[in-house]
Amino acid sequence: MTPEQKTLVQSSWKLVSPISSTAADLFYGRLFELDPSLRSLFPDDIHEQKVKLMQMLAYCVHGLDHLDRIVSNVQALGIRHNDYRVKPEHYQTVGAALLWTLEQGLGPAFTDETRQAWIEVYTILSSVMIEAARQSPNAILE
Ligand code: HEM
Repeated sequence: MTPEQKTLVQSSWKLVSPISSTAADLFYGRLFELDPSLRSLFPDDIHEQKVKLMQMLAYCVHGLDHLDRIVSNVQALGIRHNDYRVKPEHYQTVGAALLWTLEQGLGPAFTDETRQAWIEVYTILSSVMIEAARQSPNAILE
């Protein structure tokens, strides 16, 4: 990921974070539309989860300047996702819902370059989470 891409992600996040509650609603709405079977993985009341997801994304966006310092927390997050019964293929759906949400929230500010930069960030985060989850003793065995 290039320094320009980091700047694009961080500056676009600044536009989304003031509307993070709306963004979270859009995100989960889209996610369960794309794959209704994912709803059952989450508790009935996902209010708290919405806040946590947005906080974690903010943490990662700010952490882009020092990825080496956040990687162990991202690995631990991935390992906890085994307990939530999350499978590697779910990451693609979540990524699609995230990009769609950013597009809705940012409008014309969501340029091709910004989209590409977010794809880069999400690919890095999800690869670290998936790999850590796969190697963990609590991995889901099919
Ligand atoms: C980069 C990708 C992701 C990030 C940053 C993320 C972030 C989080 C965070 C911060 C939590 C709160 C609990 C904790 O810290 O352990 C959480 C819980 C959870 N996540 Fe994710 N997540 C990601 C991908 C996914 C995917 C692909 C799924 C699949 C549908 C998923 C489903 C869940 C579920 C079911 C919970 C538990 C909800 C609950 O029981 O309260 N997450 N996630």
